[in-house]
Amino acid sequence: MSKKWSDFYRKHGRFYLKEHEYFERIANRFKTYDVHSIFDMGCGTGRHTISFAEKGFSVLGVDFSPAAIQLTRDWLQSKNLHAELLIADIHEHIAGIADSSFDAVVAVHTLEYSSDKQFDDILREINRILKDGGLFWLVVPSKDTEKNKMSDHLILEEKDIKNKLSRTFRVLEFAKDSDGSFSILAQEK
Ligand SMILES: C[S@@+](CC[C@H](N)C(=O)[O-])C[C@H]1O[C@@H](n2cnc3c(N)ncnc32)[C@H](O)[C@@H]1O
Repeated sequence: MSKKWSDFYRKHGRFYLKEHEYFERIANRFKTYDVHSIFDMGCGTGRHTISFAEKGFSVLGVDFSPAAIQLTRDWLQSKNLHAELLIADIHEHIAGIADSSFDAVVAVHTLEYSSDKQFDDILREINRILKDGGLFWLVVPSKDTEKNKMSDHLILEEKDIKNKLSRTFRVLEFAKDSDGSFSILAQEK
């Protein structure tokens, strides 16, 4: 799977140049909730790792594609910014992270590349590594997301996502973006 992504990045280079359309709103919410440290899961070529770093947050970006991490590193250097970067599978790496390590976790178009069980497991782990009242920004496709109709992504219904999140999170915002994907801001219970 990581090879597939690395082949993709080697062929296409930096992917997603602009932040998600709700990025500014989410970053402002993070400031309001006094967020300092952010874990960007499946950071890809770094659009959010970089933009959060630019706003003064302390960011760890993790992706299992070495090509993605290299592109993120180059992009950071070109802007003279700093973030921690790591090549790892998030499902394995997260188990080694201490409890209550981050103020916020970001997973934008990353968790659809999981099985239903992995999705449930990682939600529990995200809850564990978040500090008390920590925030979680999740973006995942819905069945209306055009470009995902032909793929084998994990597609969850709104009620299923709310149900899964409700075990360990309280939902602060639940929106659909212009691409038909769900953008959810949740807070650790
Ligand atoms: C569609 S891209 C989104 C990248 C980034 N979050 C963004 O919004 O620009 C999905 C990324 O998730 C990474 N990814 C998928 N599953 C992963 C896993 N289990 N561990 C680490 N990275 C993963 C892929 O390598 C890819 O870079």
